[in-house]
Amino acid sequence: MILQEFQCTLCRRRIKIVDQFDMPVYDPNTGFAICKKCIRDINHYLDEHDPHAHDEEQNLKEIFAGELGGLLKKNKPHVIKAYLDEFIIRQERAKKILSVAAYNHYKRMKYDCENDGSEDEIDKSNVIIMGPTGCGKTALLFHLSKLLDIPFAVTDASSLTEAGFVGADVEVAVRNLYYAAGKDIEKTEHGIIYLDEFDKIARKSGANNSITADPGHEGVQQAMLKMLEGSVVEFTARGQRKHPEAPTIKVNTRNILFICGGAFVGIDKIVAKRLKKGETNIGFGAEIESKEDESKFDELIHQVRPEDLMEYGIIPEIVGRLPIICTLEKLDEDALLRILTEPKNAPVKQYEKLLAMDNVKLEFEEAALRAVARKAIERKTGARSLKGIIEDVMLDVMFDIPKSNEPRKIVITEACITEGERPKVLPVKDEAQD
Ligand SMILES: Nc1ncnc2c1ncn2[C@@H]1O[C@H](COP(=O)(O)OP(=O)(O)OP(=O)(O)O)[C@@H](O)[C@H]1O
Ligand SMILES: [Mg+2]
Repeated sequence: MILQEFQCTLCRRRIKIVDQFDMPVYDPNTGFAICKKCIRDINHYLDEHDPHAHDEEQNLKEIFAGELGGLLKKNKPHVIKAYLDEFIIRQERAKKILSVAAYNHYKRMKYDCENDGSEDEIDKSNVIIMGPTGCGKTALLFHLSKLLDIPFAVTDASSLTEAGFVGADVEVAVRNLYYAAGKDIEKTEHGIIYLDEFDKIARKSGANNSITADPGHEGVQQAMLKMLEGSVVEFTARGQRKHPEAPTIKVNTRNILFICGGAFVGIDKIVAKRLKKGETNIGFGAEIESKEDESKFDELIHQVRPEDLMEYGIIPEIVGRLPIICTLEKLDEDALLRILTEPKNAPVKQYEKLLAMDNVKLEFEEAALRAVARKAIERKTGARSLKGIIEDVMLDVMFDIPKSNEPRKIVITEACITEGERPKVLPVKDEAQD
Protein backbone atom coordinates (compact mmCIF):
# COMPACT_ATOMS: atom_id res chain seq x y z
CA MET A 1 0.00 0.00 0.00
CA ILE A 2 1.35 3.42 -0.95
CA LEU A 3 1.07 5.77 2.03
CA GLN A 4 2.14 8.90 0.27
CA GLU A 5 3.82 10.13 -2.88
CA PHE A 6 6.10 13.13 -3.17
CA GLN A 7 8.83 14.61 -5.33
CA CYS A 8 12.37 15.06 -4.09
CA THR A 9 13.16 18.78 -4.17
CA LEU A 10 16.75 18.06 -5.19
CA CYS A 11 16.75 15.22 -7.71
CA ARG A 12 13.12 15.66 -8.78
CA ARG A 13 12.50 11.91 -8.64
CA ARG A 14 9.05 10.88 -7.58
CA ILE A 15 9.11 8.79 -4.45
CA LYS A 16 6.42 6.42 -3.36
CA ILE A 17 6.28 5.86 0.34
CA VAL A 18 5.18 2.41 1.38
CA ASP A 19 6.62 2.49 4.86
CA GLN A 20 6.46 5.59 7.05
CA PHE A 21 10.08 5.04 8.07
CA ASP A 22 11.16 5.68 4.47
CA MET A 23 10.57 9.40 4.76
CA PRO A 24 13.63 11.03 6.29
CA VAL A 25 13.06 14.72 5.42
CA TYR A 26 9.65 15.99 4.51
CA ASP A 27 7.78 19.13 5.46
CA PRO A 28 4.06 18.72 4.74
CA ASN A 29 3.47 22.48 5.04
CA THR A 30 5.82 23.54 2.24
CA GLY A 31 6.09 20.27 0.34
CA PHE A 32 9.88 20.39 0.78
CA ALA A 33 11.27 16.87 0.56
CA ILE A 34 14.61 15.17 0.18
CA CYS A 35 14.81 11.51 -0.69
CA LYS A 36 17.04 9.10 1.14
CA LYS A 37 19.39 8.76 -1.80
CA CYS A 38 20.09 12.50 -1.89
CA ILE A 39 20.69 12.54 1.86
CA ARG A 40 23.21 9.75 1.52
CA ASP A 41 24.91 11.57 -1.36
CA ILE A 42 25.20 14.78 0.63
CA ASN A 43 26.61 12.98 3.65
CA HIS A 44 29.06 11.14 1.48
CA TYR A 45 30.18 14.36 -0.17
CA LEU A 46 30.74 16.06 3.14
CA ASP A 47 32.68 13.13 4.49
CA GLU A 48 34.92 12.65 1.48
CA HIS A 49 35.24 15.82 -0.55
CA ASP A 50 35.21 18.87 1.67
CA PRO A 51 38.88 19.92 1.75
CA HIS A 52 38.28 22.51 4.46
CA ALA A 53 36.42 20.33 6.88
CA HIS A 54 39.55 19.37 8.75
CA ASP A 55 41.05 22.90 8.72
CA GLU A 56 37.88 24.32 10.18
CA GLU A 57 37.95 21.71 12.89
CA GLN A 58 41.57 22.52 13.62
CA ASN A 59 40.87 26.27 13.74
CA LEU A 60 38.00 25.75 16.12
CA LYS A 61 40.26 23.67 18.32
CA GLU A 62 42.87 26.42 18.44
CA ILE A 63 40.34 29.09 19.30
CA PHE A 64 38.95 26.77 21.94
CA ALA A 65 42.40 26.12 23.43
CA GLY A 66 43.05 29.89 23.59
CA GLU A 67 39.77 30.50 25.37
CA LEU A 68 40.54 27.74 27.81
CA GLY A 69 43.71 29.45 28.99
CA GLY A 70 41.62 32.45 30.03
CA LEU A 71 38.97 30.28 31.60
CA LEU A 72 41.53 28.41 33.67
CA LYS A 73 42.88 31.66 35.09
CA LYS A 74 39.38 32.89 35.82
CA ASN A 75 38.02 29.75 37.44
CA LYS A 76 40.51 28.66 40.05
CA PRO A 77 39.07 26.40 42.76
CA HIS A 78 39.07 29.07 45.47
CA VAL A 79 37.23 31.44 43.15
CA ILE A 80 34.58 28.84 42.31
CA LYS A 81 34.18 28.03 45.98
CA ALA A 82 33.83 31.69 46.93
CA TYR A 83 31.03 31.97 44.40
CA LEU A 84 29.27 28.88 45.77
CA ASP A 85 29.67 30.30 49.29
CA GLU A 86 27.44 33.19 48.29
CA PHE A 87 24.52 30.81 47.80
CA ILE A 88 25.18 27.63 49.73
CA ILE A 89 25.51 27.50 53.50
CA ARG A 90 27.79 24.83 55.02
CA GLN A 91 28.64 21.78 52.87
CA GLU A 92 32.24 22.99 52.81
CA ARG A 93 33.67 19.67 51.68
CA ALA A 94 31.21 19.31 48.85
CA LYS A 95 31.89 22.85 47.66
CA LYS A 96 35.62 22.13 47.68
CA ILE A 97 35.28 18.85 45.82
CA LEU A 98 33.09 20.37 43.13
CA SER A 99 35.36 23.40 42.72
CA VAL A 100 38.38 21.18 42.21
CA ALA A 101 36.45 18.85 39.89
CA ALA A 102 35.37 21.76 37.70
CA TYR A 103 38.87 23.27 37.62
CA ASN A 104 40.44 19.93 36.74
CA HIS A 105 37.88 19.51 34.03
CA TYR A 106 39.08 22.75 32.41
CA LYS A 107 42.67 21.62 32.74
CA ARG A 108 41.95 18.32 31.09
CA MET A 109 40.19 20.10 28.24
CA LYS A 110 43.18 22.33 27.70
CA TYR A 111 45.56 19.40 27.79
CA ASP A 112 43.37 17.50 25.38
CA CYS A 113 43.27 20.42 22.95
CA GLU A 114 47.00 20.96 23.05
CA ASN A 115 47.96 17.31 22.86
CA ASP A 116 45.55 16.06 20.28
CA GLY A 117 46.02 12.40 19.50
CA SER A 118 48.61 11.90 22.21
CA GLU A 119 48.61 8.62 24.05
CA ASP A 120 48.94 9.86 27.59
CA GLU A 121 45.63 11.41 28.45
CA ILE A 122 44.54 12.75 31.77
CA ASP A 123 41.64 10.64 32.97
CA LYS A 124 38.49 12.32 34.09
CA SER A 125 37.13 11.74 37.56
CA ASN A 126 33.37 11.54 37.63
CA VAL A 127 31.74 12.50 40.89
CA ILE A 128 28.93 10.98 42.92
CA ILE A 129 27.27 13.36 45.33
CA MET A 130 24.92 12.31 48.10
CA GLY A 131 23.25 13.71 51.15
CA PRO A 132 19.82 13.95 52.76
CA THR A 133 16.88 15.58 51.03
CA GLY A 134 16.90 19.37 50.93
CA CYS A 135 20.55 19.78 51.91
CA GLY A 136 21.57 21.58 48.74
CA LYS A 137 22.68 19.01 46.15
CA THR A 138 20.62 20.27 43.26
CA ALA A 139 21.11 23.86 44.37
CA LEU A 140 24.91 23.43 44.44
CA LEU A 141 25.01 22.07 40.93
CA PHE A 142 22.58 24.69 39.71
CA HIS A 143 24.81 27.51 40.91
CA LEU A 144 27.94 25.82 39.66
CA SER A 145 26.38 25.56 36.23
CA LYS A 146 25.59 29.25 36.20
CA LEU A 147 29.17 30.17 36.97
CA LEU A 148 31.02 27.90 34.57
CA ASP A 149 31.48 28.78 30.94
CA ILE A 150 31.18 25.20 29.83
CA PRO A 151 27.95 23.61 28.77
CA PHE A 152 26.20 22.00 31.65
CA ALA A 153 22.97 20.03 31.60
CA VAL A 154 20.91 18.50 34.35
CA THR A 155 18.94 15.36 33.61
CA ASP A 156 16.71 13.50 36.00
CA ALA A 157 18.08 9.97 36.03
CA SER A 158 14.82 8.58 37.36
CA SER A 159 13.14 9.57 34.08
CA LEU A 160 15.56 7.50 32.03
CA THR A 161 14.83 3.99 30.87
CA GLU A 162 16.57 1.28 29.00
CA ALA A 163 16.14 1.45 25.23
CA GLY A 164 12.85 -0.07 24.26
CA PHE A 165 11.02 0.83 27.47
CA VAL A 166 8.52 3.63 27.77
CA GLY A 167 10.33 6.82 28.77
CA ALA A 168 13.51 8.60 27.75
CA ASP A 169 16.61 6.64 26.77
CA VAL A 170 19.87 7.44 28.51
CA GLU A 171 21.03 9.31 25.38
CA VAL A 172 18.66 12.08 26.42
CA ALA A 173 21.24 13.20 28.99
CA VAL A 174 23.76 13.79 26.20
CA ARG A 175 21.16 15.38 24.00
CA ASN A 176 20.29 17.86 26.76
CA LEU A 177 23.97 18.77 26.95
CA TYR A 178 24.14 19.17 23.17
CA TYR A 179 21.38 21.76 23.32
CA ALA A 180 22.96 23.46 26.33
CA ALA A 181 26.12 23.75 24.21
CA GLY A 182 24.22 25.55 21.48
CA LYS A 183 24.38 22.47 19.26
CA ASP A 184 28.18 22.67 19.14
CA ILE A 185 29.52 19.13 19.14
CA GLU A 186 33.06 20.08 20.16
CA LYS A 187 31.72 21.96 23.18
CA THR A 188 29.26 19.19 24.00
CA GLU A 189 32.09 16.69 24.11
CA HIS A 190 33.73 18.69 26.89
CA GLY A 191 30.65 19.55 28.93
CA ILE A 192 29.36 18.45 32.29
CA ILE A 193 26.30 16.27 32.78
CA TYR A 194 24.56 16.21 36.13
CA LEU A 195 22.40 13.15 36.63
CA ASP A 196 20.03 14.08 39.43
CA GLU A 197 18.02 11.54 41.44
CA PHE A 198 20.67 8.97 40.61
CA ASP A 199 19.75 6.80 43.60
CA LYS A 200 16.36 6.12 41.99
CA ILE A 201 17.96 3.81 39.44
CA ALA A 202 19.52 1.61 42.11
CA ARG A 203 18.51 -2.01 42.05
CA LYS A 204 15.80 -2.41 44.63
CA SER A 205 17.34 -5.49 46.11
CA GLY A 206 20.95 -4.47 46.59
CA ALA A 207 24.14 -6.36 45.81
CA ASN A 208 23.57 -9.67 47.46
CA ASN A 209 20.21 -10.51 46.00
CA SER A 210 20.54 -10.41 42.26
CA ILE A 211 17.99 -13.12 41.47
CA THR A 212 15.05 -10.92 42.32
CA ALA A 213 16.71 -7.73 41.08
CA ASP A 214 14.40 -5.57 39.05
CA PRO A 215 15.65 -5.74 35.48
CA GLY A 216 14.40 -2.27 34.53
CA HIS A 217 16.75 -0.42 36.81
CA GLU A 218 19.69 -2.64 36.16
CA GLY A 219 19.12 -2.16 32.44
CA VAL A 220 19.29 1.60 32.84
CA GLN A 221 22.52 1.26 34.74
CA GLN A 222 23.99 -0.96 32.04
CA ALA A 223 22.97 1.55 29.38
CA MET A 224 24.39 4.35 31.46
CA LEU A 225 27.66 2.53 31.95
CA LYS A 226 28.63 2.86 28.30
CA MET A 227 27.92 6.55 28.42
CA LEU A 228 29.94 7.02 31.62
CA GLU A 229 33.00 5.16 30.44
CA GLY A 230 33.11 7.01 27.15
CA SER A 231 31.49 5.93 23.94
CA VAL A 232 29.92 7.46 20.90
CA VAL A 233 26.33 8.22 21.77
CA GLU A 234 23.91 8.67 18.93
CA PHE A 235 20.66 10.56 19.23
CA THR A 236 18.09 12.25 17.06
CA ALA A 237 17.31 15.97 17.17
CA ARG A 238 14.64 17.11 19.60
CA GLY A 239 11.13 16.49 18.41
CA GLN A 240 12.31 14.00 15.82
CA ARG A 241 10.88 10.51 15.97
CA LYS A 242 13.42 7.81 16.49
CA HIS A 243 13.51 5.42 13.56
CA PRO A 244 16.25 3.63 11.67
CA GLU A 245 16.60 6.22 8.92
CA ALA A 246 16.35 9.37 11.03
CA PRO A 247 19.47 11.54 10.84
CA THR A 248 21.41 11.26 14.09
CA ILE A 249 23.92 13.39 15.96
CA LYS A 250 26.98 11.62 17.30
CA VAL A 251 28.76 12.71 20.44
CA ASN A 252 31.75 11.08 22.06
CA THR A 253 31.34 11.08 25.83
CA ARG A 254 34.99 10.29 26.59
CA ASN A 255 35.69 13.77 27.94
CA ILE A 256 32.30 14.62 29.37
CA LEU A 257 32.37 14.96 33.13
CA PHE A 258 29.54 13.15 34.86
CA ILE A 259 28.28 14.17 38.25
CA CYS A 260 25.66 11.86 39.71
CA GLY A 261 23.64 13.01 42.69
CA GLY A 262 20.92 11.66 44.92
CA ALA A 263 19.68 11.42 48.48
CA PHE A 264 20.55 7.70 48.84
CA VAL A 265 18.08 7.33 51.68
CA GLY A 266 19.26 4.65 54.08
CA ILE A 267 22.89 4.55 53.00
CA ASP A 268 23.88 5.59 56.53
CA LYS A 269 22.38 2.34 57.79
CA ILE A 270 24.49 0.40 55.32
CA VAL A 271 27.63 2.19 56.48
CA ALA A 272 26.70 1.56 60.11
CA LYS A 273 26.20 -2.12 59.38
CA ARG A 274 29.57 -2.38 57.69
CA LEU A 275 31.31 -0.56 60.51
CA LYS A 276 29.65 -2.80 63.07
CA LYS A 277 30.95 -5.87 61.27
CA GLY A 278 34.34 -4.34 60.61
CA GLU A 279 37.41 -4.15 62.73
CA THR A 280 38.04 -0.50 63.44
CA ASN A 281 34.86 1.06 64.76
CA ILE A 282 33.38 -1.75 66.81
CA GLY A 283 30.56 -0.83 69.11
CA PHE A 284 29.65 2.33 67.27
CA GLY A 285 27.20 0.98 64.73
CA ALA A 286 24.82 -0.77 67.10
CA GLU A 287 23.26 2.28 68.70
CA ILE A 288 22.79 3.99 65.38
CA GLU A 289 20.68 1.24 63.99
CA SER A 290 18.43 1.10 66.97
CA LYS A 291 17.68 4.75 67.50
CA GLU A 292 17.56 7.73 65.21
CA ASP A 293 20.64 9.61 66.19
CA GLU A 294 20.76 12.67 64.00
CA SER A 295 24.27 13.72 64.86
CA LYS A 296 25.66 10.31 63.93
CA PHE A 297 24.25 10.64 60.43
CA ASP A 298 26.95 13.10 59.38
CA GLU A 299 29.72 10.91 60.77
CA LEU A 300 28.34 7.95 58.84
CA ILE A 301 27.63 9.61 55.53
CA HIS A 302 31.18 10.92 55.30
CA GLN A 303 32.43 7.35 55.59
CA VAL A 304 30.57 6.01 52.56
CA ARG A 305 32.78 3.72 50.53
CA PRO A 306 32.29 2.18 47.08
CA GLU A 307 31.16 -1.12 48.58
CA ASP A 308 28.31 0.65 50.36
CA LEU A 309 27.10 1.97 47.02
CA MET A 310 27.11 -1.55 45.63
CA GLU A 311 25.19 -2.74 48.64
CA TYR A 312 22.73 0.05 47.94
CA GLY A 313 22.13 -1.36 44.48
CA ILE A 314 24.48 0.44 42.12
CA ILE A 315 26.28 -2.05 39.90
CA PRO A 316 30.04 -2.37 40.55
CA GLU A 317 31.01 -1.22 37.06
CA ILE A 318 29.24 2.09 37.61
CA VAL A 319 30.65 2.52 41.10
CA GLY A 320 34.10 2.03 39.57
CA ARG A 321 33.42 4.87 37.15
CA LEU A 322 32.55 7.31 39.92
CA PRO A 323 35.81 7.58 41.85
CA ILE A 324 35.01 10.77 43.76
CA ILE A 325 32.43 10.35 46.50
CA CYS A 326 31.13 13.69 47.72
CA THR A 327 28.90 13.68 50.77
CA LEU A 328 26.70 16.41 52.18
CA GLU A 329 25.59 16.63 55.78
CA LYS A 330 22.22 17.22 57.40
CA LEU A 331 21.44 20.84 58.06
CA ASP A 332 20.88 21.72 61.72
CA GLU A 333 18.86 24.59 63.16
CA ASP A 334 21.72 27.08 62.94
CA ALA A 335 22.38 26.23 59.31
CA LEU A 336 18.71 26.62 58.44
CA LEU A 337 18.63 29.96 60.23
CA ARG A 338 21.53 31.16 58.11
CA ILE A 339 19.90 29.84 54.93
CA LEU A 340 16.89 32.02 55.67
CA THR A 341 18.86 35.23 55.65
CA GLU A 342 22.42 34.91 54.37
CA PRO A 343 22.56 33.61 50.79
CA LYS A 344 22.25 36.12 47.96
CA ASN A 345 18.85 34.68 47.12
CA ALA A 346 17.78 34.00 50.74
CA PRO A 347 14.00 33.69 51.20
CA VAL A 348 13.86 36.58 53.68
CA LYS A 349 15.74 38.86 51.27
CA GLN A 350 13.33 37.90 48.52
CA TYR A 351 10.27 38.80 50.58
CA GLU A 352 11.88 42.06 51.66
CA LYS A 353 12.35 43.02 48.03
CA LEU A 354 8.81 42.00 47.10
CA LEU A 355 7.24 44.06 49.86
CA ALA A 356 9.53 47.03 49.32
CA MET A 357 7.83 47.37 45.95
CA ASP A 358 4.61 48.03 47.88
CA ASN A 359 6.32 50.59 50.06
CA VAL A 360 6.50 48.21 53.00
CA LYS A 361 9.43 47.39 55.22
CA LEU A 362 9.47 43.79 56.32
CA GLU A 363 11.07 42.76 59.57
CA PHE A 364 11.51 39.24 60.93
CA GLU A 365 12.24 39.00 64.63
CA GLU A 366 15.16 36.70 65.43
CA ALA A 367 12.85 34.43 67.44
CA ALA A 368 10.53 34.16 64.46
CA LEU A 369 13.33 33.00 62.20
CA ARG A 370 14.39 30.43 64.78
CA ALA A 371 10.82 29.19 64.94
CA VAL A 372 10.81 28.76 61.16
CA ALA A 373 14.05 26.78 61.31
CA ARG A 374 12.67 24.58 64.12
CA LYS A 375 9.52 23.90 62.16
CA ALA A 376 11.59 22.94 59.11
CA ILE A 377 13.58 20.48 61.22
CA GLU A 378 10.34 18.86 62.37
CA ARG A 379 9.29 18.42 58.78
CA LYS A 380 12.51 16.54 58.03
CA THR A 381 12.92 17.91 54.53
CA GLY A 382 16.01 20.00 55.13
CA ALA A 383 15.94 23.53 53.79
CA ARG A 384 13.25 22.60 51.33
CA SER A 385 10.33 23.46 53.63
CA LEU A 386 11.67 26.85 54.78
CA LYS A 387 10.06 28.75 51.97
CA GLY A 388 6.72 27.03 52.41
CA ILE A 389 6.61 27.85 56.11
CA ILE A 390 7.26 31.54 55.46
CA GLU A 391 4.86 31.51 52.54
CA ASP A 392 2.05 30.34 54.85
CA VAL A 393 2.57 33.37 57.07
CA MET A 394 3.10 35.80 54.24
CA LEU A 395 0.05 34.92 52.20
CA ASP A 396 -2.42 37.15 54.06
CA VAL A 397 0.15 39.93 54.28
CA MET A 398 0.77 39.88 50.57
CA PHE A 399 -2.95 39.81 49.92
CA ASP A 400 -3.80 42.76 52.15
CA ILE A 401 -0.80 45.04 51.72
CA PRO A 402 -1.44 46.26 48.17
CA LYS A 403 -4.86 47.61 49.25
CA SER A 404 -3.15 50.83 50.30
CA ASN A 405 -0.09 52.78 49.23
CA GLU A 406 0.79 54.04 52.70
CA PRO A 407 4.35 53.36 53.79
CA ARG A 408 4.20 50.67 56.48
CA LYS A 409 6.30 48.31 58.45
CA ILE A 410 5.42 44.67 59.05
CA VAL A 411 6.86 42.72 61.92
CA ILE A 412 6.81 38.94 61.92
CA THR A 413 7.01 37.61 65.46
CA GLU A 414 7.54 34.13 66.84
CA ALA A 415 3.81 33.81 67.52
CA CYS A 416 3.10 34.41 63.84
CA ILE A 417 5.03 31.26 63.04
CA THR A 418 4.07 29.03 65.96
CA GLU A 419 0.49 30.11 66.64
CA GLY A 420 -0.58 31.58 63.33
CA GLU A 421 -1.00 35.05 64.82
CA ARG A 422 -1.44 37.84 62.28
CA PRO A 423 1.72 39.88 61.63
CA LYS A 424 1.80 43.37 63.09
CA VAL A 425 1.36 46.19 60.61
CA LEU A 426 2.75 49.52 61.82
CA PRO A 427 2.54 52.89 60.15
CA VAL A 428 5.82 54.52 59.22
CA LYS A 429 6.13 58.28 59.47
CA ASP A 430 8.74 60.61 57.98
CA GLU A 431 10.98 57.79 57.01
CA ALA A 432 12.37 57.30 53.55
CA GLN A 433 11.68 53.84 52.21
CA ASP A 434 14.43 51.90 50.57
N1 LIG B 1 23.14 24.36 52.17
C1 LIG B 1 22.22 25.17 51.61
N2 LIG B 1 22.43 26.50 51.51
C2 LIG B 1 21.49 27.30 50.96
N3 LIG B 1 20.31 26.88 50.49
C3 LIG B 1 20.03 25.58 50.57
C4 LIG B 1 20.97 24.65 51.13
N4 LIG B 1 20.42 23.43 51.08
C5 LIG B 1 19.23 23.57 50.51
N5 LIG B 1 18.98 24.86 50.19
C6 LIG B 1 17.74 25.36 49.57
O1 LIG B 1 16.71 24.41 49.82
C7 LIG B 1 15.99 24.06 48.64
C8 LIG B 1 16.09 22.57 48.35
O2 LIG B 1 17.45 22.19 48.14
P1 LIG B 1 17.92 21.20 46.98
O3 LIG B 1 16.94 21.20 45.89
O4 LIG B 1 19.31 21.52 46.63
O5 LIG B 1 17.86 19.83 47.75
P2 LIG B 1 18.49 18.42 47.37
O6 LIG B 1 19.67 18.22 48.24
O7 LIG B 1 18.71 18.37 45.92
O8 LIG B 1 17.34 17.42 47.85
P3 LIG B 1 16.70 16.13 47.14
O9 LIG B 1 17.55 14.99 47.52
O10 LIG B 1 15.36 16.04 47.76
O11 LIG B 1 16.67 16.39 45.67
C9 LIG B 1 16.59 24.93 47.55
O12 LIG B 1 15.71 26.01 47.35
C10 LIG B 1 17.90 25.42 48.08
O13 LIG B 1 18.17 26.71 47.63
MG1 LIG C 1 17.72 17.40 44.31
